[in-house]
Amino acid sequence: MAQPNHPPSLQDLLATRPAFAMHAQDGLCFEYVPLNAIADAHGTPVWVYGAGSIRARYAALKNAFAALGLGVHIHYAVKANDHLAILGLFRGLGAGADVVSLGEFMRAERAGIDPADIVFSGVGKAPAEIAASVAAGLGQMNVESAEELEVISAVAGRMGRKIKITLRMNPDVDAGTHEKITTGLAGNKFGIPAQDIPYLYAHAARLPGINPVGIAMHIGSQILSPAPYARAYRKAGAMVRKLREIGQSVSVVDLGGGIGIGYGDEAGMSLTAYANLINREVGDLDVQLQVEPGRYFVGPAGLLLASVILEKQSSGKRFIVLDAAMNDLLRPALYDAWHGIMPVSAAHLHAPTGPADVVGPVCESADSFATARLLPALGPRARVAILDAGAYGAVMSSAYNARPRAAAVLVDAGQFHLITPRQRLDALWADELLPQPVA
Ligand code: LLP
Repeated sequence: MAQPNHPPSLQDLLATRPAFAMHAQDGLCFEYVPLNAIADAHGTPVWVYGAGSIRARYAALKNAFAALGLGVHIHYAVKANDHLAILGLFRGLGAGADVVSLGEFMRAERAGIDPADIVFSGVGKAPAEIAASVAAGLGQMNVESAEELEVISAVAGRMGRKIKITLRMNPDVDAGTHEKITTGLAGNKFGIPAQDIPYLYAHAARLPGINPVGIAMHIGSQILSPAPYARAYRKAGAMVRKLREIGQSVSVVDLGGGIGIGYGDEAGMSLTAYANLINREVGDLDVQLQVEPGRYFVGPAGLLLASVILEKQSSGKRFIVLDAAMNDLLRPALYDAWHGIMPVSAAHLHAPTGPADVVGPVCESADSFATARLLPALGPRARVAILDAGAYGAVMSSAYNARPRAAAVLVDAGQFHLITPRQRLDALWADELLPQPVA
């Protein structure tokens, strides 16, 4: 996730994001709500999510499948944004959930998603997590190793239950994304090598507590080209045929997530191309197809609204120091991720720009949102929106440097609602205990 070759101008960023508009007096608006109104009411840094954007993106993916007559069931990947209000939106849209921990499972359940419509993925599920989710009615578990299959089988035996599973196949396909978010290469920790699947599937079918229903794959995240998907799904199709040849029954293929979005002014993955390749590679398998995207739905539907603390000049460079930092949005520090940074004031949009490093106040050189970004002179209290931060933003935040977690707001139908109050400072240490001296 390196920097784009031709970084988009502020105008380009606006032009490619229809949920945003610059209003002469009110400044930058998101889903018709002035961001200034949100910052005035709740301060900064504050996450802002747009319900309309999520609904529109969900509908676009559904429509891409429907246009081909493809029945594909969606499990939203909770890890991208696990706020109960966001999960509630997905429940309302009819999505199930893809979870990777008991905590995510319980969040989804709490938001009203039917446990039978939840898929539990992940490379290391603890026996207690397996037992608790199965007891609560979990629909499907995606198994990532022979070793894990035995653990699940033992839990099922103890509980006297039969657990529906898929085997997650590692297709050994390079998804062409950042090394830290690729998952479908041999040598990654994820999944089971293809050659081991037939034996393991037949073995699973003989285990009393296990009901193998199909295969799963997830080759990585922020995938922008259809080619790696096509290679991986072709292997999935071949695997289903092979399993059937050896007498196994296969009724589910979970195709994973990974649909990439445009962080600059480049287009995200074409949904038409994505739906077409699914149709071509696995459309005729007579199985229930499942997908589990996260970022695609919520990434562009969220932003981090921040204020400038000060601008400083140092060794001939300009630094814009924000009140948001890497503890809020970690992606630039962790992956060199590029996020658009838009001034909120209309006057700033048309002012002359010059290069500046946009940084946070955390005491780490990695605490940087952008390097040599072309921005106008902003000055203290000016506000900026860090774009496309709805996925893997708040969920990856921490309280490093004793910085309280930011507030969050949901915009819906032209109104905004506080959905997470800013963490109080004394909440930072409220759960800490002091050791009692031994008498
Ligand atoms: N399914 C499984 C099994 C996954 O591991 C993931 C993401 C997804 C679905 C959803 O992938 P998506 O559609 O959101 O690409 N923190 C990184 C991304 C990590 C993705 C991990 N797995 C980032 O900020 O880019």
